[in-house]
Amino acid sequence: MPESLSVTDNRTGRTYDLPIENGAVHATAFQQMKLDDEDDGLLLYDPAFLNTASCTSRITFIDGDRGILLYRGYPIEQLAEHSNFLETAYLLIHGELPNAAEYAAWEHELTIHTLVHENVKSFMDGFHHDAHPMGMLLSTVGALSTFYPDATKIYDEEQRRISIYRLIAKMPTLAAFAFRHSRGLPYNYPDNDLSYAGNFLSMMFKMVEPRYHAVPEIEHALDVLFILHADHEQNCSTNAMRAVGSSHPDPYSATAAAIAALYGPLHGGANEAVIRMIERIGSVDKIPEFVTGVKAGKERLMGFGHRVYKNYDPRAKVIKRMADQVLAVTGTSPLLDVARELETIALEDEYFVSRKLYPNVDFYSGFIYQALGIPVEMFPVLFAIPRTAGWLSQWEESLLDKEQKIARPRQVYLGAPSRDFVSMSEREVQRPKIVAAG
Ligand code: CMC
Repeated sequence: MPESLSVTDNRTGRTYDLPIENGAVHATAFQQMKLDDEDDGLLLYDPAFLNTASCTSRITFIDGDRGILLYRGYPIEQLAEHSNFLETAYLLIHGELPNAAEYAAWEHELTIHTLVHENVKSFMDGFHHDAHPMGMLLSTVGALSTFYPDATKIYDEEQRRISIYRLIAKMPTLAAFAFRHSRGLPYNYPDNDLSYAGNFLSMMFKMVEPRYHAVPEIEHALDVLFILHADHEQNCSTNAMRAVGSSHPDPYSATAAAIAALYGPLHGGANEAVIRMIERIGSVDKIPEFVTGVKAGKERLMGFGHRVYKNYDPRAKVIKRMADQVLAVTGTSPLLDVARELETIALEDEYFVSRKLYPNVDFYSGFIYQALGIPVEMFPVLFAIPRTAGWLSQWEESLLDKEQKIARPRQVYLGAPSRDFVSMSEREVQRPKIVAAG
């Protein structure tokens, strides 16, 4: 069978043969479909990229109908069970799992770069006491670019390496500093003898004891959560990372943009929104009333639904199982019972079934974070820490992709046609009545 698509432009009666490559046609192939020589050619209209591939990638694969997620070909369930976050981050960045020597070198680099410049503490201090930690994180990550001017040499492989080490290593430090600032607590410096997750917990929670020892189950659970959040192909924040990176700023600036995209409640802010929603529902008997409101379009069931998954999110499956293990150590949460019941009701309700709305990664992750003693406003930050590895691997892939250029979408213009400037005194007379859009 020929791998091509025949398209007839009924305006002109001409037929075009467009090659299909890897299950896609090039959007630029439609440019040749013109009414006349003055015409710029046919555009493809796709708000929110519902059916447009913006890149080729070899990093993460999702089969949304079957609930499959692979990092560099490895199923997420296997990585969650057998790998650790640092090894998974290596896999995402380098494309292969490390051997022992490669892992040791990688771990060493990520460990020696955990400290931040002392000046970072000063501008952290400038934030208001109730500043959202995600706002603090995105500003301080952006500010890091000013400490490393060489990071702008993005086509120098050495510079890219060191920026990658620094960003992955410093993210937990900045995140923990943001938390300590909000509590008025002194900052804890990194403890490089601890694991990536263990060190983060130490920077968060150490008080006056000489060394903080996290409960092993909790340290492990956090590490697994980091693995599950490390990448997710072309989501909103990764798209922001690639789009901003395409104008070639340093990676700190691009990562700050990605954090900003992640902040929204429809993306990484959803884990925080889930807990607030469940707290608002409060008890199992209030669920039917809440679900009726969702179905009437009053609000969304946060932690449900996904652009790509039309089946149970495989990350949510791992998290749901892990929630039981963690809560067995930390003590149960009555709100988790509300969440479980809400899931059961939603999964049987025609509204959610017909729209293929299933729990996503954010539905249960917040309960684990809560059980670990992490306050709700830190949840999106906990998403940003591991996702940095994914953002950076996607950023580097994009930079080295010869087909990529500065991201610059087209638009379908529906505004006023060309017209002459009108002086202010004449405007009231001439202005057409403005009709509200929508
Ligand atoms: N609750 C109620 N209805 C929903 C929900 C929801 N959570 N999600 C989608 N729908 C409905 C939506 O109203 C629409 O119905 P209709 O066809 O009658 O208009 C239909 O399902 C399709 O929704 P959509 O808005 O076209 O779907 P989308 O692909 O644009 O949105 C989403 C994906 C994740 C933004 C959305 O499902 C949502 O807002 N979920 C809640 C927020 C959330 O949990 N976000 C975390 C996503 S996973 C982590 C991450 O990667 O960020």
